[in-house]
Amino acid sequence: MSKASIDLVSRTDPEWARYILRHFDAFLANHANCERKASALAMSLVVKYADRTRIIPPLIDLAREELEHFRQVYALMEARGLRLTADEKDPYVNALLATCRTQRDARFLDRLLVASIVECRGAERFRLIHEALQDSELKAFYRTLWACEAKHANQFTTMALEYFPAEEVYPRLEELAAREAEIVRGLSWRPSLH
Ligand SMILES: [Fe+2]
Ligand SMILES: [Fe+2]
Repeated sequence: MSKASIDLVSRTDPEWARYILRHFDAFLANHANCERKASALAMSLVVKYADRTRIIPPLIDLAREELEHFRQVYALMEARGLRLTADEKDPYVNALLATCRTQRDARFLDRLLVASIVECRGAERFRLIHEALQDSELKAFYRTLWACEAKHANQFTTMALEYFPAEEVYPRLEELAAREAEIVRGLSWRPSLH
């Protein structure tokens, strides 16, 4: 299981984190929604693939952790007098979902691997935010998020390895990671995680 580590094909420019800090209130509202949607996604996989019983307990745990992140980010927003914002389409996630194949098993694999890559990108960007922050409490918070999303990235690939051979998982992971790098390159910076 230790071979479940994944790598991004491209790196985010560290300047991105300084841009985010200049728009931090707007970023927090987007970040809160990302955590809430990550929790909802994990729970939707539980229902969609109820026959894949080996991954249900880790998905439930993951959904709880994401919900806890949502609670923590919302507490930061509340302390700043900020309101949650309506859901907006996430062009990054939508473009990635569009690369998922449609046949049931292939889609199951792709959904897990896309989730793994999204977690990995989240971890990378939380690390950059952690490094750019001055405030020690916020800095520590983004450090814990960085570690937790990196763990989730490994967990989603581990879940894929529960049901698919490594010879199928890793080449597909590489393909999707290459596609993710193209998608990221095509997006302009916004006060958002993606
Ligand atoms: Fe999270
Ligand atoms: Fe996560």
